[in-house]
Amino acid sequence: MQPMKTLNLKLNEKSYPIYIGRDLLLQADFLSKHISGRQVMIVSNTKVAPLYLAKVEALLGGFSVKNVILPDGEKYKNLETLNLIFDALLAEKFDRTCTLIALGGGVIGDMTGFAAASYQRGVNFVQIPTTLLATVDSSVGGKTGVNHALGKNMIGAFHQPQCVLIDINTLDTLEARQYAAGMAEVIKYGLLGNAKFLQFLQQNMPALMARDKDLLAQAIYQSCADKAEIVATDELESGRRVLLNLGHTFGHALENTLGYGKLLHGEAIAIGMLMAAKLSMLEGHLSADEVAQVADLCKKADLPCEINSKIKITDFTKAMLVDKKSVAGKMRLILLKKLGQAFITNDYQPDNLHKIIEEFL
Ligand code: NAD
Ligand code: GLY
Repeated sequence: MQPMKTLNLKLNEKSYPIYIGRDLLLQADFLSKHISGRQVMIVSNTKVAPLYLAKVEALLGGFSVKNVILPDGEKYKNLETLNLIFDALLAEKFDRTCTLIALGGGVIGDMTGFAAASYQRGVNFVQIPTTLLATVDSSVGGKTGVNHALGKNMIGAFHQPQCVLIDINTLDTLEARQYAAGMAEVIKYGLLGNAKFLQFLQQNMPALMARDKDLLAQAIYQSCADKAEIVATDELESGRRVLLNLGHTFGHALENTLGYGKLLHGEAIAIGMLMAAKLSMLEGHLSADEVAQVADLCKKADLPCEINSKIKITDFTKAMLVDKKSVAGKMRLILLKKLGQAFITNDYQPDNLHKIIEEFL
């Protein structure tokens, strides 16, 4: 068996393990011990199910296992698709002791988590993330939800899983563009709070992009460890968890104005982080060289550094204001004091923000 590492996200009675390793989908113990009740609903999509559903089902001997296969894509992350999960749970007469398993990327994880948060006022669920983005970000921390036409992730709940099971081998089948998009969230951890990890990424990005498994395991472990540490101190995002949204106010506005799915979430976040870095430079925190380092790392990770479509400035600004980071219509932003240290502020020159928006749009 391949080596495996376990992290614990410490949230008192809601604490849970994050298992990271290769071939974990060949070992039944990790999953079965986190399943309460006998009824299990695996939620996946048309792309992931043919690849991994049978493997997960094979781990669940002794349980009554059903599945619901959703259409694939960010554009289906909405209330209508969510309802398909409720339809399946009710049709199969699932009771409150059931467990849902999210098998897929962040879209499946967020929707399954939200279904688990609301079905019969809350049932258990397990995350089996299969994209790089989902392994390092969306499967950890309990944010669940769906998009609304007027704003991304606007409808949702905090609901923690029973465990997160990361089998790194599932990333073998991930398309290159999706892999790169996940790397944006990995870079985010380095930029926002871990200068040492940022150096590791700068040194190893070519090998990481070549999917070196040992380095990848280290990068996933460190990303999950950094996220778990932040979530453990601020589960409901009343303080420092906001830092995890570095680049997201810009990125969500990009996704919304371009139409969900045009830019991948991680691609939008990469551009958003670069916008945040440039604004940090205009605000006197970062040097031009440091901004260039951010752009260089994104380029090495095959991430876009600019927007290749026309967006109206007024539409973009309106979308930024809908973002959850806005309080009473005033935009809080996450900027960088230095590489490896982000901070939350609404004390910036509006002119500088406009300059950045104009430059990128
Ligand atoms: P995704 O779920 O759409 O997956 C990307 C694509 O990869 C899809 O086509 C999917 O079917 C396919 N796929 C998944 N696993 C595969 C595999 N192993 N092999 C081949 N193809 C595979 O997108 P994503 O990037 O994983 O997640 C983005 C979503 O996550 C967004 O909706 C975003 O809002 C959300 N998100 C949530 C949080 C959170 O804290 N809850 C954090 C970050 C992002
Ligand atoms: N992805 C941001 C968070 O989980 O808080």
